Amino acid sequence: MALAAGLLLCTLATAPLPAHAQERFSLYVPSPQSVAEAMAKMAGVGKSDVVVDLGSGDGRIVTTAARLHGARGFGVDINPELVELANSLAKRSGVGDRVSFSLQNVFDADLRKATVVNMYLFPELMRMLRPKLLADLQPGTRIVSHDFSFGSWEPDEQITFFAPDKFGGAGADARISLWIVPARIQGNWNWSLPVGGQAMSYASIIEQHFQVGEGIVRVGNRRGLFTDLKLRGDQLSFGLRITLDPGVMVVHEFRGTVKGDAIEGMVRVTPDGGKTVELPWRASRSNGTTYFQPTGLAAK
Ligand SMILES: C[S@@+](CC[C@H](N)C(=O)[O-])C[C@H]1O[C@@H](n2cnc3c(N)ncnc32)[C@H](O)[C@@H]1O
Repeated sequence: MALAAGLLLCTLATAPLPAHAQERFSLYVPSPQSVAEAMAKMAGVGKSDVVVDLGSGDGRIVTTAARLHGARGFGVDINPELVELANSLAKRSGVGDRVSFSLQNVFDADLRKATVVNMYLFPELMRMLRPKLLADLQPGTRIVSHDFSFGSWEPDEQITFFAPDKFGGAGADARISLWIVPARIQGNWNWSLPVGGQAMSYASIIEQHFQVGEGIVRVGNRRGLFTDLKLRGDQLSFGLRITLDPGVMVVHEFRGTVKGDAIEGMVRVTPDGGKTVELPWRASRSNGTTYFQPTGLAAK
């Protein structure tokens, strides 16, 4: 009996507590209209977009995107009165057939169809949402935030301007940040290219921190570092200068589209003193890598 009670206490002490809505809550402060318009502009919202506002308040962010740019969209909010108000204001603005607002916690929202996600939420909430956004959103989806940020995930673009209509007309600076959801490029990538009439096998390793990456490659017993690696959504580009057998420095400029475990694109190859050729480039990601093989003690 005592053992059973002890076990129960132990289980209660270690079981994770369920998260309550209150712990994941941010207060209602509307973005001024000038900020709603600047957010849509920064995301480059257009007719084909599905615009979402996480914590949608009176719906002005999504309604503005629909009214000014022809987008569709939806918002979720934890406050039922604001949800009702947002739906009635959208109807009054003539966009009630293209936007809707629902009573839901942002952490439960289905974001699979979103192409633009907006938020004006406390920074703790944004950090808590970060893994969900990275898991649920397609590469290339734009995320726009009013004032707050995602910690070490740096924005791709940011502006600050004075909004005279902020805080009920008191006026204050508004900071708007844009993130482009990056494709996942971390891992081992392999490809081959015909260089100087010979098929060369490239074994590379890419490490990734959000939209920032670093890469190293091995071709036979030669090696080189990627330069100027850029990732915007699913668009990847980088350079590589490497000496290839029989001892010719070759400059490469890669650019391609990341499609899951493949990258498809083109590479411009310029051997030292030779002509530039443009070749199709297809890399595939693998679990293992031949980068480190063979090893051993015979260093030359
Ligand atoms: C700062 S207001 C922003 C309103 C609107 N996005 C805007 O920019 O005008 C934050 C909104 O998020 C809602 N909210 C806070 N925590 C939430 C949660 N966990 N789930 C859903 N909505 C939430 C609040 O009710 C409030 O309407």
